[in-house]
Amino acid sequence: MDLKSKIRVIEDFPIEGISFKDITTLIKDKDAFKEAVDKFVEDLKGKNIDYIVGPEARGFLFGAAVAYVLGVGFIPVRKPGKLPGETSIDEYQLEYGTNSLEIHTDAFEKGERIAIVDDLLATGGTMLSAAKLIESLGGEIVAMEFLIELESLNGREKLKNYYTNSLVKYDR
Ligand code: PRP
Ligand code: MG
Repeated sequence: MDLKSKIRVIEDFPIEGISFKDITTLIKDKDAFKEAVDKFVEDLKGKNIDYIVGPEARGFLFGAAVAYVLGVGFIPVRKPGKLPGETSIDEYQLEYGTNSLEIHTDAFEKGERIAIVDDLLATGGTMLSAAKLIESLGGEIVAMEFLIELESLNGREKLKNYYTNSLVKYDR
């Protein structure tokens, strides 16, 4: 299946000049959603993953489904003020604006093997921030998985110390 054909592109959202990749059209299509999840799982099985981490919000959509099919637990990395327990926090740059991410400090044990799943690799700031949080707690990052990669933003360069995989590529 051509997953790219299931993604709706909306120009100038949320601000002028951004070519927004709308995944709602992909995830409402049961075959496309299944194919995307199965492709992530295919890439991750055999890598001895202990947990999937997904960054709020769109990372939840794919990350939780991938964790379920892979048969491992799911750990959310959330926007600030949402997690009730003790947290670690990291501030990062977005493609537009800044944000912070938080993780529960007792989310996993040191040395556990973690794959992070998100919908989009743009600048790589979100993924790098999630990786920093996980590593600060002693987790080992085995893979970074993306549905979409925007190649001209060079996020892959920022993540060059990690294994990365993306299912659909756009220039911008
Ligand atoms: C979007 C997207 C990725 C991130 C990619 O999240 O879902 O997580 O931007 O951009 P980057 O590579 O430049 O960091 P965003 O925080 O905008 O919104 P969301 O809550 O809808 O996931
Ligand atoms: Mg996101």
